[in-house]
Amino acid sequence: AASCARRLPSLFSRGCALQSDTMSASSLAAAPTCRGTAASSSSSPWRRSHPSTSSCRAPQSTRHPGLQSSPIHARQQQRWQRQQVAAGGSGIGQLLGRHRRFGVTLPKRKLVARASYDHPDDRADGSDGECPAPSSSSSSFSSSVSSVSSATDEEIYEGFASSSLSNGNLETLNAEIDALAAARDAAAAAASAAQAAYARAIAARDEPPTASSDEAAILYNASPYVNVECEYGYIQSNVGLYIDISKARPPGVPKNVLAISIENFQRELAAMGAAMRGEDNQEGNGGSDILVPEDGSEVTDEAVELMSELRDRLVELELSNDAIWDRERARPEVPAPWIIKVPYFVLCYFLDAMYPENRPIQRFWFLETVARMPYFSYNTMLTLYELLGWWRRSSELRRVHFAEEWNEYHHLLIHESLGGDRMWRDRFLAQHSALLYYVVLLGLWLVSPALAYNFSELIEAHAVDTYAQFAEQNKAALRLLPAPRIAKAYYESEDLYLFDEFQTARPRSSRRPEIRTLYDTFLAIRDDEGEHVATMKECQMEDSMMADVNRVNVGTAAVVFFVGANLWLQRLAGSAGLDTLEMDGMDAGEILGEDGLIAMFFRLIPFLLIL
Ligand SMILES: [Fe+2]
Ligand SMILES: [Fe+2]
Repeated sequence: AASCARRLPSLFSRGCALQSDTMSASSLAAAPTCRGTAASSSSSPWRRSHPSTSSCRAPQSTRHPGLQSSPIHARQQQRWQRQQVAAGGSGIGQLLGRHRRFGVTLPKRKLVARASYDHPDDRADGSDGECPAPSSSSSSFSSSVSSVSSATDEEIYEGFASSSLSNGNLETLNAEIDALAAARDAAAAAASAAQAAYARAIAARDEPPTASSDEAAILYNASPYVNVECEYGYIQSNVGLYIDISKARPPGVPKNVLAISIENFQRELAAMGAAMRGEDNQEGNGGSDILVPEDGSEVTDEAVELMSELRDRLVELELSNDAIWDRERARPEVPAPWIIKVPYFVLCYFLDAMYPENRPIQRFWFLETVARMPYFSYNTMLTLYELLGWWRRSSELRRVHFAEEWNEYHHLLIHESLGGDRMWRDRFLAQHSALLYYVVLLGLWLVSPALAYNFSELIEAHAVDTYAQFAEQNKAALRLLPAPRIAKAYYESEDLYLFDEFQTARPRSSRRPEIRTLYDTFLAIRDDEGEHVATMKECQMEDSMMADVNRVNVGTAAVVFFVGANLWLQRLAGSAGLDTLEMDGMDAGEILGEDGLIAMFFRLIPFLLIL
């Protein structure tokens, strides 16, 4: 019951916006909830109550219309005890307009057109691909629109709806719909402005601008790279970026697995051949591709020269592995048992060995390729447990994990834009490591979800140290270089719903990074990783096995001891011939042999201990 009382508030005190979530939360909150044995870890709050058992009622939720949060957010809200601000912004129609791109080939350097998804008949109407501005022609309601700031949503809606439905005039109804749309957009714009001011105030409070940052802004504005796009990714040159997809039509589907894998294999085979021959300046293996826009704009020789220079500046960036470890030793240690720490250290030292200090972008690209896998694996297992009817309490966590995976994906795309995937061996290593990591994490989850989250917490904390060190070490250079297009599209999107979804260490919608330079970009990535650390920490429930790391260490030692004893006993029995010995009609082999009762007992002990 105590366990139930600790866990339930996090589930029941969440704010809701989407109707389905509101229904779910309100239904849950109104339910009698756990009683007696319902307090066990996998019990449903819908369990039929038993009159003879004691009950524990979850607190009623505190709901804020327009505010949506996950169980993790709710827990943080309880801690903060502060009012949150509803998120503004609407729609993804204006996220990015359509792109029409064409290839440009200039001598001396190889330019590759970004992959385009647009169809030839796109924008036949001459539109610019942006969402149409809301009509303001519904003059009869313009006065109502202007008073939107003083009227409640319900008043506006009821006023329009009652008048239109009573006269049944379609023309009038359409005008009302237009006016409602305009009212909605005006309200959204006001909310968006308030949101931006709120986020700026928080940023100014947490990181006040300094003389050096003002000076850096002046230097950047004078930098020749201000308007230069840095896009050098090999995979992007083949398959493009999702932000270039026309919002006006479906993105399509991939070819069947045979066709698409053969196509990719042929590409990679040529790159692999170049890598094996040590030719590090070939297509797919260190080639000097520069991706240029295909939107009809002219790419001048001067622009290409700057793109080339910018790529050379990126190659000069460095990252000190020793300094990363110094940072890790200087901060509070993430509590973790040795069974998790050992593979963590192996992975980190492997990274240090594979990526010496002059290849930071490649190292980041590798890391981010792998870093997506934990969230993918958690959602796989949560979905599986839901399917089997074992566990549904943390279903909302899947949304947070997807938001985290989406965030890691953008880190990956940023590093790809910077050319992190240009070498064949980096792609081979990262993609196969990611697949292996995914399978290993699925297995680790089966043994202990808390241990899986603990491992991720360690990795994410290491990522914070790595990005912080990189930004600090290359501060002057990064402040002069522009952010990749994908970084601006992600962090400065009008729709930051998914971005807010994984901000678990701070009030929702309080973080709005302004991305101009590469320095801004790396600071934003560093802070993202900090949020991931907080989320992974939250996912290890207070009453789980991770509450006492030493207990896990003792359990691990016991498992190792019993496995060792099992093996030793089997060998001893085999060498002494005891496995064939028969005493007083009793077959000793059945007891002491490899498949004997004692061996079976020892095999079971590790599982019993873990459970
Ligand atoms: Fe990341
Ligand atoms: Fe991360």
